[in-house]
Amino acid sequence: MTDHSFGAVKQALAGARVLLVGGAGFIGHNLALGLRKAGVDVMVVDNLMINSLVDNVYDGKRQVLQRQIYLNFLLGRFELMRDAGVELRNADARLLADLTRTFDEFEPTKVVHLSAISSAVDARANPGLCFDLQLITLRNVLELCRVAHDRINQVMLMSSSTVYGDFEGDSVDENTRPRPRGIYANAKYMAERLVRTYNHQHGVGTCIVRPSALYGERCISRRVSQVFIENALTGKPLLLEGGGDGKLDFTYIEDLVDGLIRALGLYRGGGASNTFNLTFGNARTIADLAAVVKSVVPEVVLEDRPRAEDKPIRGTLSVARAEADLGFKAQWPLETGYRRYCEWYVDEWRRAEKQLSAA
Ligand SMILES: NC(=O)c1ccc[n+]([C@@H]2O[C@H](COP(=O)([O-])OP(=O)(O)OC[C@H]3O[C@@H](n4cnc5c(N)ncnc54)[C@H](O)[C@@H]3O)[C@@H](O)[C@H]2O)c1
Repeated sequence: MTDHSFGAVKQALAGARVLLVGGAGFIGHNLALGLRKAGVDVMVVDNLMINSLVDNVYDGKRQVLQRQIYLNFLLGRFELMRDAGVELRNADARLLADLTRTFDEFEPTKVVHLSAISSAVDARANPGLCFDLQLITLRNVLELCRVAHDRINQVMLMSSSTVYGDFEGDSVDENTRPRPRGIYANAKYMAERLVRTYNHQHGVGTCIVRPSALYGERCISRRVSQVFIENALTGKPLLLEGGGDGKLDFTYIEDLVDGLIRALGLYRGGGASNTFNLTFGNARTIADLAAVVKSVVPEVVLEDRPRAEDKPIRGTLSVARAEADLGFKAQWPLETGYRRYCEWYVDEWRRAEKQLSAA
């Protein structure tokens, strides 16, 4: 029987060198920090283009306080990574020559592909760029891993729960047939198919991960979990479409990072290929999310709104496979994980207010 203890995972990762393509983003920098804690050598490659410092400064819709707090988050990522000994290269993974240079320099044994327009709404507004950042970068990663797969034993793709499309029942597992809708979900599905093709035809070892509705420290993607706590802090109501009965499998970044490190460490090798849902494993309603915000900021007002007609129908991603194969067990339900994040956000908000009033 496989030893799933974290000690065993760490031991399995001894000597690993992990390259994170698109690794300065929300998931990537948290994964880089988690891997460093496990003693693994990490290099991040990022062109700093999406959710970037420059976008933050130039976004005219953002209030001054928002700009300050996001700036703190973005700078915080780099300071934490620097202090943890993560190597960083500012390079564009769409350019094969640039990526080749980082592969030659770092000589990774595992590569995690994270680069993308990470929002389905932004991807829809810019389909060509969505295509390039997801698929041209993946082409380069797969080609470099194909020629070096005796040394690089695993390519991990950050896919998405959106590949499942509208859920037909309450829950899906990795055998549920994907029915992606829209450019973001279809680019993810194509990426999955390409990764499997390189596995079948060229023996590249692969792992596909489907996360969902993440929240956590230093995210600036403005998903509902971030918008709610910000609205509460700026006196705006939390809008609950259809009374807030829509469900998502909200996942705290610490749980995802734990699952990713397990999937890297417990990889069987020998050109194996596997696919894992890595989520909390129990969908919760938007009303549940709002209730946690209210427990942290009691004066916040909740307002019902009519349901949007084309709202995706989502639910739980079963994590039974990750539990059995990786010993994965999510630790953070909304009541503790999201609450912890909201409390951290309130502290960060106050810190930014002080910085601005001192300026
Ligand atoms: N956050 C979520 O809830 C979630 C859920 C499911 C899947 N995902 C997927 O996980 C991945 C990471 O998401 P995230 O939340 O960290 O997003 P993010 O926007 O914070 O990070 C993506 C990073 O990729 C970088 N990047 C984009 N194009 C690049 C290029 N050509 N070369 C080098 N770097 C490039 C960006 O600069 C950015 O730092 C994405 O593929 C996203 O689609 C995220």
